[in-house]
Amino acid sequence: MKGVVLAGGLGTRLLPLTAVTNKHLLPIYNQPMIYYPIQTMVNAGIKDIMIVTGGNSAGDFLKLLKNGKPFGLKHLNYTYQEGEGGIADALSLVEDFADNEPICVILGDNIIEGNICKAVRDYHQQGGGAKIMLKKVPDPQRFGVPQLDGRRVLRIEEKPSHPKSDYAVIGIYMYDSEVFNIIRTLVPSGRGELEITDVNNAYIERGEITWEELDGWWTDAGTFESLLHASNLAAETGANKLENKDAAQAGHVH
Ligand code: DAU
Repeated sequence: MKGVVLAGGLGTRLLPLTAVTNKHLLPIYNQPMIYYPIQTMVNAGIKDIMIVTGGNSAGDFLKLLKNGKPFGLKHLNYTYQEGEGGIADALSLVEDFADNEPICVILGDNIIEGNICKAVRDYHQQGGGAKIMLKKVPDPQRFGVPQLDGRRVLRIEEKPSHPKSDYAVIGIYMYDSEVFNIIRTLVPSGRGELEITDVNNAYIERGEITWEELDGWWTDAGTFESLLHASNLAAETGANKLENKDAAQAGHVH
C-alpha cells in the first residue's frame, strides 16, 4: 500500500499565521505539523509516500523533510497543487504515483494519539473499495458526518448544520485505484472545492465502503482553537511517536 499526505490548500482559517508560511510547517508542540501524519504512515508500515503540497513555502518541505531521513525512509515523493481546488483535487495529482495500487490518504493537519495498523490490515483483507475512519466528537457540524445504520454507512454530509450522528469522518482514508475515476466525475461544491465527502459517498453508492472507529484521541489543526488543542494534547499525553526508525528503514514496521 502506498501513502499520500495532503498538505496543499491555503490555510486561510489560520491567517495571519499562514500569510507567509505553509500551515503544515507550523509547530504542533515540539514538531512541525507535517511530521505527525508521516509518522502515522510509517508506524503502519507504509514507506512509499507522496507529499502533495501547495500554497506558500512549498520548497521548505524539501528542506525540512529531505528524503525522509527523519522518519527512517530512504526516499520521499513530492508534488505541487496549484490553487485550493479541494482535497479530492489534491488527491487527483497522485494517480501516476499510485500506479493502480491501493492508497492510504492522510490529511496533513490530522493528528492522532495511536496508530492505524489494524485498519490498514483489515483494508488489505477487504480486497478493494474504500475504508473510512470515524471518531465521536462534541462538534460534528465542523466535519464530514456519517449517517449510520449499524455497520452500514448510509450517507456522509459535509459540515451539516443538523448532524445525523455524533461521529466525524476523520482525515484518514483508504482507497483502491477506482478513486481516480470517481474524482473525474466530481463537480465543485458550494465552497468551490472537489470534496472528499463526495468521493466517499460514491463508494457508499457502490456498496464498497467499510468504517472503523479510531482508538485514542484525534484532532485536526486547521483553526486557532484546534491548533492550540493539538499542541496541548501532544504536550500532555503525547501524539504518536515514530515507533522504531531502524525497523522502518529495514521494512519491519507493521
Ligand atoms: O479533518 C477532517 C475533515 O477534513 C473531514 O471531516 C471533512 O469531511 C473534510 O472535508 C476535511 O474538512 P476541512 O474543511 O477541515 O478540510 P480543510 O479544508 O481544512 O483541509 C484539510 C487538509 O486537506 C489540509 O490541511 C490540506 C489538505 N488540502 C485541503 C484543500 C482544501 C489540500 O491538500 N488541498 C486543498 O485544496
